[in-house]
Amino acid sequence: EDALIAQGEKVFRKCKACHAVGDGAKNKVGPHLNGVIGRTFGAVNGFKYSDGFVEANAEGKTWTVEEMTAFLANPKSYMAGTKMAFAGLKKEEDLAAIVAYLLSFPE
Ligand code: HEM
Repeated sequence: EDALIAQGEKVFRKCKACHAVGDGAKNKVGPHLNGVIGRTFGAVNGFKYSDGFVEANAEGKTWTVEEMTAFLANPKSYMAGTKMAFAGLKKEEDLAAIVAYLLSFPE
């Protein structure tokens, strides 16, 4: 839904220092996020993930909307030892918006 995606674009300002999306998106401090929902955790080639992501990848764990929402609400409690230095999104509306925004960038 367009309004929610537009809201998500604003929320993504909090992510932009570390993540890119869209045509030609490159890895930065964090991996590019094109197509992230629906793919396996820790799957971007050439990005060096922390151990928790490497293990989740080996287990074939997949990013669903539910998993993404839980991760972004509190990254460090969701994934112990993650090197993603981000406190999390506290508002339900921001979480819904960022998920819609990420879904608007397929692989
Ligand atoms: C990992 C999203 C903010 C740095 C990830 C992953 C997602 C994500 C989905 C896992 C990717 C995968 O499995 O391939 C977001 C969103 C943000 C945000 C939506 C804003 C709301 C940030 C910020 C930083 C950052 C501000 C840097 C200060 C990283 C790093 C990783 C990562 C380094 C790899 C984690 C690890 O290997 O432990 N992020 N992120 N992220 N993010 Fe973020």
